[in-house]
Amino acid sequence: MNPYQKYILPRLLNSTMRREETEKLRPGVVSQAVGRVLEVGFGSGLNLPHYRGILKLYALDPSLELYNLAETRIKEVSFPVEYIKASAENIPLSENTIDTVVSTWSMCSIPRPELALKEIFRVLKPGGKFIFIEHGKSPGRLTAKWQKWLTPIFGYVSGGCHLDREVDQLISQAGFKITELETFPQKRRPLLFMYKGVALAKK
Ligand SMILES: C[S@@+](CC[C@H](N)C(=O)[O-])C[C@H]1O[C@@H](n2cnc3c(N)ncnc32)[C@H](O)[C@@H]1O
Repeated sequence: MNPYQKYILPRLLNSTMRREETEKLRPGVVSQAVGRVLEVGFGSGLNLPHYRGILKLYALDPSLELYNLAETRIKEVSFPVEYIKASAENIPLSENTIDTVVSTWSMCSIPRPELALKEIFRVLKPGGKFIFIEHGKSPGRLTAKWQKWLTPIFGYVSGGCHLDREVDQLISQAGFKITELETFPQKRRPLLFMYKGVALAKK
């Protein structure tokens, strides 16, 4: 990990992930979580204020630097938060133990999203929910081309973020049944095309 990734990137993400347009979308997604919850790509804990009545949160993220920025937010919630320093491609939890998995703008940065989604499916109880808001490939051909060209540069400055992942396809390919899906471009950032929804782990 170079100094940019260790010292600058965590602070940059903590700040850019609090943009108004992003913050508006969090409550509607996160408040659907119930029971024992796993959040993949927990980051600096920006979703914490939006959980309602959950039993426990497993906060998984490989970046301890980002997790440390969540300290104050963790103190303000009434449910237990357990940090898991791990990658979503290899989740150190037993199968069929989690009621809800939450992911907000994390699939773009996980190096092997197809493995992460298989792991998410494995740890969810039968019928458990995967609740997500991600950005991914635009249906517009020109925008999708720009997303492809710009991903290497954008990924370098943003911690490996990919602009052009086919989020719904990746989720379905891992065995999930998508029951709700909304797709829309971000108003002021056309390269960020949103996928917001719920997928069930039917086993
Ligand atoms: C754009 S940030 C989003 C953070 C947070 N979910 C939010 O909504 O503010 C992407 C997150 O994915 C995390 N990440 C990167 N690689 C990962 C991996 N292999 N497994 C789990 N999380 C990962 C990063 O550390 C970072 O916290």
